[in-house]
Amino acid sequence: MSEASRPNSSDSRRTFLKGSTAAIVGGALAANLSIAKSAHAAGDDEIKIALIGCGGRGSGAANQALRTEGKVKLIAMADVFEDRLEGAYQQLEKQGGIKERLDVPKERRFVGFDAFQKAIDAGPDLVILATPPGFRPSQFEAAVKAGKHVFMEKPVATDAPGVRKVLAAAEEAKKKNLGVGVGLQRRHQPQYLETIKRLQDGAIGDILATRVYWNGSTPWLHTREDLEAKAGRKLSEMEYQMRNWYYFTWICGDHIVEQHIHNLDVSNWLKNAHPVKANGMGGCEVRAGKDYGETFDHHAVEFEYADGSRMFSQCRHIPGCWNSVSEYAIGSKGTADISGKIQANGADEWRYRGPRPDPYQVEHDDLFASIRAGNPINEAETGAKSSMTAILGRMCTYSGKELTWEEALASNIDLAPETFSFDTTPKSLPDANGMYQLAVPGLTKVV
Ligand SMILES: NC(=O)c1ccc[n+]([C@@H]2O[C@H](COP(=O)([O-])OP(=O)(O)OC[C@H]3O[C@@H](n4cnc5c(N)ncnc54)[C@H](O)[C@@H]3O)[C@@H](O)[C@H]2O)c1
Repeated sequence: MSEASRPNSSDSRRTFLKGSTAAIVGGALAANLSIAKSAHAAGDDEIKIALIGCGGRGSGAANQALRTEGKVKLIAMADVFEDRLEGAYQQLEKQGGIKERLDVPKERRFVGFDAFQKAIDAGPDLVILATPPGFRPSQFEAAVKAGKHVFMEKPVATDAPGVRKVLAAAEEAKKKNLGVGVGLQRRHQPQYLETIKRLQDGAIGDILATRVYWNGSTPWLHTREDLEAKAGRKLSEMEYQMRNWYYFTWICGDHIVEQHIHNLDVSNWLKNAHPVKANGMGGCEVRAGKDYGETFDHHAVEFEYADGSRMFSQCRHIPGCWNSVSEYAIGSKGTADISGKIQANGADEWRYRGPRPDPYQVEHDDLFASIRAGNPINEAETGAKSSMTAILGRMCTYSGKELTWEEALASNIDLAPETFSFDTTPKSLPDANGMYQLAVPGLTKVV
């Protein structure tokens, strides 16, 4: 069960082509023509895919895309690092049931900072964007410009200029009738869909507050020493940050953005809104040391929605503490665990007891079915607004200030380097002891 309808396979060709025709009749652009043309050229409804960012999630997403209903083929792959690309290709080759859907000869395996554009130009109908999030805005913009459907991982940006770029491209994607899925997979999980529908229908009255958490441990770390030992040479600062990207705000966003976005998004979805204001605090208490770059190990933020209700958020990467990855709502007539439990005052507890399919697969099934039906899902705007919610939270914890949505979204602080190459000097550099400067609440400027 999800928002998108799933046409049966006999309807596929008719509906996919009808969607393309409708888009052309609707005054659409050259980009739509190329989608229609590629469907005709293949003589069937094959959706050709390019994968950009061949890491863990990229190969997972490609695997799921190749298991959707109807004809699909992976025709191009792109990564800045050849070892990552080849590793992902080998992983995909080992997966049962999709081998015949791989058509990525050496000449369509692109490596380098311009590889994403080459993959977009290689003729796919849909691109998967699964690099670290710092690159997402420019890659999404390029994909939409070229008229490609997109599945992009969350978050979709790491700073306000990036969010504005994604919002503009999202509008463009709508005009071109392009499908855009964003990897906020809870939106495709029946337990969340059903609970949120009940809550929005008033099961616990007005939603006064939500509580959302991603308290856990550090996901992974690649030390400079290990990376250099493996490479057998010194790494440039840029290559080091790219390989150990989780700990650099320009490329990761900090874990409040990279990870906690999932929980913040659930609250925004329930409220059908984004916060208008926030304040918070955070720091790096335990995870200190040069390998951990410039990110905090904990953030706690109070967000306010336009109706005065609040979202209380915590995220922490410190071992040995209370852990929870969860979302709760407090209403005027009861409480809920948004992942499937409602306790209305004076009533029996309701629990979701239905099926729990793999949400990573369902989000791809939904996107591809919607494209084939000519009525593509477009999650770019909600994905951008939830990314901005997380960025707003980080701006508050880094600065220690209360900030409005407008102030934060208008920020012109672009965290990324001016240009991208392995010789580029990133904006954040280590001191003589190899330590990076962390944000200092009360002093750090974020707008
Ligand atoms: N939805 C989810 O539950 C979920 C789970 C895991 C990761 N993710 C998201 O997926 C994205 C990727 O995460 P991951 O765990 O796969 O990381 P990863 O490091 O395993 O993979 C990222 C890949 O992108 C490549 N890359 C970096 N910059 C690039 C560029 N400019 N052009 C082309 N390739 C580039 C890297 O070399 C690497 O191979 C992140 O945004 C992450 O937040 C989402």
